[in-house]
Amino acid sequence: MSNSANPQRQLRLGAILHGASGNMSAWRHPDATADASINLDFNIAAAKKAEQGKFDFVFVADGLYINEKSIPHFLNRFEPLTLLAALSAATDKIGLVGTLSTSYSDPFTVARQFASLDHLSKGRAGWNVVTSPLEGSAKNFSRDAHPEHSLRYRIAGEFLDVAKGLWDSWENDAFVRDKTSGEFFRAGKLHTLNHQGEFFSVQGPLNIGRTPQGRPILFQAGASEDGKRLAAAHADAIFTHHETRELAQAFYQDVKRQLAEQGREPDDLRIFQGVSVIVGDDQEDVERQYWETARLVSIENALNYLGRYFEHYDFSRHPLDEPFPDIGELGQNSFRSTTDAIKRNARERNLTLRQVALEAASPRPVFGGTPEAVADGLQSWFDGRAADGFIISGGTPNSFGHFVDRVVPLLQQRGLFRSDYHGETLREHLGLKQPLNRFTQ
Ligand SMILES: Cc1cc2nc3c(=O)[nH]c(=O)nc-3n(C[C@H](O)[C@H](O)[C@H](O)COP(=O)(O)O)c2cc1C
Repeated sequence: MSNSANPQRQLRLGAILHGASGNMSAWRHPDATADASINLDFNIAAAKKAEQGKFDFVFVADGLYINEKSIPHFLNRFEPLTLLAALSAATDKIGLVGTLSTSYSDPFTVARQFASLDHLSKGRAGWNVVTSPLEGSAKNFSRDAHPEHSLRYRIAGEFLDVAKGLWDSWENDAFVRDKTSGEFFRAGKLHTLNHQGEFFSVQGPLNIGRTPQGRPILFQAGASEDGKRLAAAHADAIFTHHETRELAQAFYQDVKRQLAEQGREPDDLRIFQGVSVIVGDDQEDVERQYWETARLVSIENALNYLGRYFEHYDFSRHPLDEPFPDIGELGQNSFRSTTDAIKRNARERNLTLRQVALEAASPRPVFGGTPEAVADGLQSWFDGRAADGFIISGGTPNSFGHFVDRVVPLLQQRGLFRSDYHGETLREHLGLKQPLNRFTQ
């Protein structure tokens, strides 16, 4: 929180829970817990470590389609809400953010699940709203085809309207539970949505009361034009990823401008840049740690990893040491913003297929260096309005612990990050306003 004599903008931190941490092959690292993706004790320990570091939240990503070429973490992992429900009982303060798709779920179920998590955790739930980039998902949900990119975002917009409406079903003080009179709830404080739209028809009300946060915190993780529009209209936070400070700044400005167009304040939405870190005693130590995990990735692994972004395209049919092949529009209907960035980067830096694949599969950390250098990097992005906060992923299985032990204290000494929690809910950690109920405004 800001010091009242000298108010200072403070950054926010999330921790990604992604199995063993590090690149796709990091589970083979001597210090890695090889079954981390499906190991509750490992995830509890990681969440507690993040809570020890006073992080705002842990973050669980997700997907709905695998095949035998998918990375090990995707092959055998927890469903996010189930994991977060377990973590809610093992932690006290830290926010719990999980990914769930609007393209392959129903608003009533999702609204109910996240309301439950918000109650279970006493106000720490967050939903990372995704539209599902993977074509193959359709095959797991009895669909003929994966909805096209802009259609997915139209569905997502209506989905969020409905979910928000359902979360307003009950006013805060609706349940009086008066044993003497027998009045369980006040009739006037129950609101029925009666939504009839293009994609959904949902009567309501929701069968769970208004949640401690009013409603869970909404994250959005798409960076295309449609993605930004959805975020500006609905989200409390964005999880994004940009290679450079300049690109991150341009994204930040664009989203904050679109927020104003929607009649919202700049502080109504927090922008998080996903960054990987490796902390070392010096650059040589960082390099050594990087190669300890990078050397575990074979070129076959790397081509498969790259292919997933492009609808599981088989890149092995192209020569490895020639310029990155022209694959046309492939990727536009899946991870659009990510595939655009990969193609642009390959073109601008004249990279070969081998280079693109290895860079994608074992990326260098965005911030690798001494604790001071990592703190300087984060501060420079934060002060330069490239981000309101960061979602940290460890570049090696040991990096997250190093970050909490060595970098967080520096951020705290600089007054850039809290030394203790000042609130109970994720909404309070993020400094976001309590939402109004649409039926009582
Ligand atoms: C940083 C980041 C994290 C994402 N995390 C997930 C995820 O966990 N699950 C998922 O299905 N999609 C995830 N996505 C994909 C997006 O939700 C979106 O479907 C995809 O990026 C295509 O949309 P876009 O073109 O608007 O970016 C993520 C995207 C980004 C940029």
